[in-house]
Amino acid sequence: MKKSDPQEFFPYHGGKLFCEEVDLSEILRKHGSPTYVYSHEGFRSPVERLKTGLSGLPVQICFAMKSNSNPELLKILKQCGIGIDLVSGGEMRIARSVGFSGNQMVFSGVGKLPEEIESALKNDVFSFHVESIPELDLIQEILEARFPPDRRARVALRFNPDVNPKTHPYISTGLRENKFGLEKSEILWVAKNLKNWPRIQIAGLSIHIGSQLVTLAPMKEAFQKLKSCVETFESLSKIELEYVDLGGGLGIRYKNEKPPTIEDYCKLIQKEWSAWIQGRRAATRVFLEPGRLISGNAGVLLTQVQFRKERKSRTFLIVDAAMNDLARPSLYGSYHEIIPLNSALRKGKTASTDIVGPACETADRFASGRKVPVSWKRGEFLALLSCGAYGYSMASNYNSRPRPAEVLVKNKEFFLIRDREKIEPL
Ligand code: LLP
Repeated sequence: MKKSDPQEFFPYHGGKLFCEEVDLSEILRKHGSPTYVYSHEGFRSPVERLKTGLSGLPVQICFAMKSNSNPELLKILKQCGIGIDLVSGGEMRIARSVGFSGNQMVFSGVGKLPEEIESALKNDVFSFHVESIPELDLIQEILEARFPPDRRARVALRFNPDVNPKTHPYISTGLRENKFGLEKSEILWVAKNLKNWPRIQIAGLSIHIGSQLVTLAPMKEAFQKLKSCVETFESLSKIELEYVDLGGGLGIRYKNEKPPTIEDYCKLIQKEWSAWIQGRRAATRVFLEPGRLISGNAGVLLTQVQFRKERKSRTFLIVDAAMNDLARPSLYGSYHEIIPLNSALRKGKTASTDIVGPACETADRFASGRKVPVSWKRGEFLALLSCGAYGYSMASNYNSRPRPAEVLVKNKEFFLIRDREKIEPL
């Protein structure tokens, strides 16, 4: 299986679908359906490829844990030596519980709460990625009110470069019309008015223009705008920045997209930033915040066919996973490859089929008009691929459905890393 393929860590062996060296039907027998299954190597491998591709560059990778915040999976990334990009007090507590220290964390987000800011300061979070001037004021106020006079906060201003990332509008973040970041004029205004925030040390500028980017051109454009913004900021403020944060956003292959490889992405970063960094007087680091790139193709969602419903115009396969377990198809119309656990069911006569869940909405649909074999019937097991990112982390209890179990596979072994939710707490 090719690198970065949705099935890279989920191959067929002897007619059965595996994760690494574990037969997925064994996991279902033990833990039931629906269940998320993750490959240990699936998490590790993209990180190692990033590290190799970026070697020589002073770089700090911070995993965007909104894409998947299961503590056991975060532990794998901790062992790889990378940090965390977090967006809430909840994520901060989870990251701390796994053993990440504050200085391995950057805190992003447009609407940080006062208590989250206070707790981030207490935890010595490395930096706040600030998205508005009132947010700078709030950090300053909290420091003045609750911390000793010599305590300052490190901040990177999130620059909105007004670049079209050419992705789904719901996950496009770098256009002027999006709620994210500060415009260049605001950043330069901050540079001229630093005296307003004596307790804040501006240490960097950050960008994140969107998610599931399948070409590098918008990133390159954003990098160039970021460089020019850094240079103007530094000349106005007389500050030398410690780092630039290039965000996340590199897409993965769900279907037949051809996203740039991790190696292509690293080459672009090396080309755009190596010489620039070497030419600077101050030591400057490059931060990255990849989420999906690391977690996306490391996980699948297993589900069982409940009913086959045939109409003249359409066939429906009703499975036991629903939009509460995996929201992406109903929210973004996103495509996930769906394959049977029994490889014999890959062949044969096909029919145009809607694969749907049991939730009471027409939007509860994982595939629409997909050509699938007519042999897929009640009782068969299916795997929805590429569900490691924004799968479980966006799951809900809609229809009072308990969220699924999560299982981690490492070589020949598998471990339950989150119980199926029980109905009582709901
Ligand atoms: N940094 C910031 C500031 C972000 O807002 C995000 C994602 C990332 C990094 C990581 O982006 P990634 O490398 O994963 O593309 N729920 C959507 C994706 C939302 C992305 C939100 N921000 C989906 O399922 O496609």
